[in-house]
This record gives sequence, C-alpha cells and structure tokens, in this order.
Amino acid sequence: STAVEEQLDPFSLVADELSLVADRLRSMVVAEVPKLASAAEYFFKLGVEGKRFRPTVRSSCPSEFHALLNGCNVGYYNVEDHVLEKVLLLMATALNVSVPRQLPVAAVDTLSVELRSRQQCIAEITEMIHVASLLHDDVLDDADTRRGIGSLNFVMGNKLAVLAGDFLLSRACVALASLKNTEVVSLLAKVVEHLVTGETMQMTTTSDQRCSMEYYMQKTYYKTASLISNSCKAIALLAGQTAEVSILAYERSTVWFYPLLSSVTMPTLSQLVDVYLWPGGLAFQLIDDVLDFTGTSTSLGKGSLSDIRHVLSLTFFLYSVALSGIVTAPILFAMEEFPELRDVVDQGFDNSANVDRALEYLGKSRGIQRTRELAAKHASLASAAIDSFPENDDEDVQRSRRALVELTQRVITRTK
Ligand code: FPP
Ligand code: FPP
Ligand code: MG
Ligand code: MG
Repeated sequence: STAVEEQLDPFSLVADELSLVADRLRSMVVAEVPKLASAAEYFFKLGVEGKRFRPTVRSSCPSEFHALLNGCNVGYYNVEDHVLEKVLLLMATALNVSVPRQLPVAAVDTLSVELRSRQQCIAEITEMIHVASLLHDDVLDDADTRRGIGSLNFVMGNKLAVLAGDFLLSRACVALASLKNTEVVSLLAKVVEHLVTGETMQMTTTSDQRCSMEYYMQKTYYKTASLISNSCKAIALLAGQTAEVSILAYERSTVWFYPLLSSVTMPTLSQLVDVYLWPGGLAFQLIDDVLDFTGTSTSLGKGSLSDIRHVLSLTFFLYSVALSGIVTAPILFAMEEFPELRDVVDQGFDNSANVDRALEYLGKSRGIQRTRELAAKHASLASAAIDSFPENDDEDVQRSRRALVELTQRVITRTK
C-alpha cells in the first residue's frame, strides 16, 4: 500500500478538510448589505475556488498582449491550486508533537480536535487576508481577470472592490480575535503590514534598487513569503502551546514526570517552519520568475527564440518589468554576465529595439539556467529541513512530511 501512497497527490491528504474550510469561508463573509455580501463572496463561491489559478495573463500589460497570449495558450496559471491552505494544513500535521502516551486517550483526543479546528481557522484567516490583498492589488494593477474569472474591480468597479477587500480584512480580524491569542494576532497583523510594505516597495523604486538582488529578495519576502511563513508560525505556535498544555496537565496528575518537556518548546517549532519555508518559498518564487520568461518548462537557456510563444511571453514579460519596475532573478543574473544589459534595463522597454536587445542578452546568458539551479539548491535545503522535525512515527505525521518533501519537488518541476 505504501507504493500506491507514494504516487498519490500529496495534497489529497487534506482534500476533505479543504472543502470544510471553503464552506466556512463562505459563511464568514456574509454581510448585511447585499451588494457587499455578493462582492465579498465572489472568490469563495462554489466552483470558483475549485480552479483557482493566477490571472491568465498578468495585469498591467498592454491589452493586445492579453489576446495574443491567450490565443497561443501561454498562460500564467498557478497549478498549485489552493496552495496556501494546503501547505498550512499539511504543516499542521507535520508539526504534530507527541503528547505523553500516559495521558488518558479521551483527553488527548479533545485537545487535538480543538487544536486542529484552531489551525483550520488560521488557514481561513490567511486565505481572507490573501484574497483581500488580491482585491486591492487588482485595483492597483487595473486587472480584468483573477483566478480565471473577471476580477472584482472589472465586474463591480474599483470602489466596491476596495470596500470588499476592507470588509474581508475586518472579518479576518474578527476571526483572529476569536482565537484569543495575542501572539497569533501579532504574527498575522505583521503579514498585513508586510503586504502593504512589499507592494509599496514595488511601486516606488530607484534604478539602483531595481537592479539589486537584495532589494528584490526583501520585496519578495514582504509581498509573497511573509504570508505563508508567518501563518505557518501561527500554526506552529498553537501546536506548541497545546503540547505544553497537555504535558502540564499530565504533570499535574503524575508529579514524577518531566523529561518530555524538553522536546516540545515553541520556539523550536517556529524555527522549523523557517528552515523549511524560507528556502522552499524562495525556490517557488525563483521558478515563478523563470516561468514569466518561458511560459512553459522548455528552457530558454538551451533553446532558440524562434518559438513564437517564447518571443511573445518574453516580450510581454519585459513590458511587465517596465511597468512594475521589478527586475527578477534571470535578468539580474544575465546582468552579472553582461553589465551592458544594465543600460538597456534603465532605458525601459517602451521601445521594441530595447526589448530585442534585452532578449538577446538574456538568451545568450546563463540567466535562466542559473535561476533554476538556485531554485533547485533551495528546494533540496527545504526538503532536508523536514528531516530535522521532531521524531514522530505516527502514520499521518509521516505522510504529511512526505507530502511536504514532495511539494519541494513540484515547486521546481512545475511548468506553469
Ligand atoms: C499580487 O502581486 C499582490 C500581492 C501578493 C500583494 C498585494 C498587496 C497589497 C495590494 C496591499 C494591500 C493588502 C491588504 C491585506 C488589503 P502581483 O500583482 O505581482 O501578481 P498577480 O496580480 O499576478 O497575482
Ligand atoms: C497563492 O496561491 C500562493 C502563494 C501566495 C505562494 C505561496 C508559496 C508557497 C506555498 C510555496 C511554498 C513551497 C515550499 C516548498 C515551502 P493560490 O493557489 O492560492 O493562488 P492565487 O494567487 O490565485 O491565490
Ligand atoms: Mg496584480
Ligand atoms: Mg500587483
């Protein structure tokens, strides 16, 4: 049976729980004003969340590119549907710490059911914050699609989209308060601050910042990594506290028992989250950057630019660089090899001669290849991190850990 299990989608482990989370999300965004309710529900409706992918084409590129790119099927889908909730729920199981076996079974069960539902609540809050930021992002980017359907600003207008984002954020706060845990509140409040900081950093760059790997990494942490990383920490925090509670309960009943305490301290669980997510999240982002160029898994490094789809996605990408002001890893690496590229980037890509020159540099550089190598290195660091999780031979825990290892592979082999 293990052979069959290995081939299963790692995320199938949390499939049932995901639909529970989706149901609860829908009920959490009910509002008194019908217009606001339907706006807020928009992304939590049945059917829509089943195929949550990134907008087919990134926003803010010239509209003729939308049609072209759609026409030749160069999409920017995110295959890791629901990736946020899945990772959070897998992490919740993977971080399970053994509670004293001597504790009455019923007591352990009650504690773990309670813990799980609090951890699910973190997944819901995280998704609400994420969607709120996407609603605002689409207003800022003037996007017309999101997750494969019309974006809310496109369907209902900017004003309602902004309000719907605010509303989701406030519902997330209400849910957060209900957990009655101020450390968890701090972690998720920090996420919101980071999202705003990252978005602002992206909007206001100098030429030097645009070409700095350090600035790019910092911005990426704020805009992308902080959400998943701090939410996982919240999940770890709840697990650590529950383990402590159960150990303390046990100690009170059997005064002579102490040794277990040492293996389950909270900071350790939080650190474990970082050891996996920092390299894992970075690998995810690096591959995202590669896919911006290639659109498919076919490597630009090896290939020619003759494939029309490549040329289109590259050209499109350079438009988005010009508009978003962010130069990503492949270009940064290419710039190391060909410092002249810096001038081209600085001049911008509104003229097609510059686009061609930049493409040429990238094509003859090892930019794409080096980005992939860097991603692979970090993915293996992430998967090694799972081995450092506290020993636990529970079947579910083991399976969730294997799924997280499998995820690091998917992150670097994904083609869209
Ligand atoms: C998507 O980026 C945008 C984000 C990940 C965050 C945007 C954050 C804000 C707008 C700050 C407001 C935050 C809250 C919580 C209300 P993208 O435009 O590069 O990618 P995409 O549009 O293709 O997904
Ligand atoms: C949202 O995806 C995805 C993110 C905000 C990126 C989070 C990154 C990871 C979970 C990578 C972690 C990987 C490892 C190996 C640690 P979504 O599917 O919800 O898409 P959306 O943009 O439509 O919301
Ligand atoms: Mg956007
Ligand atoms: Mg944006």
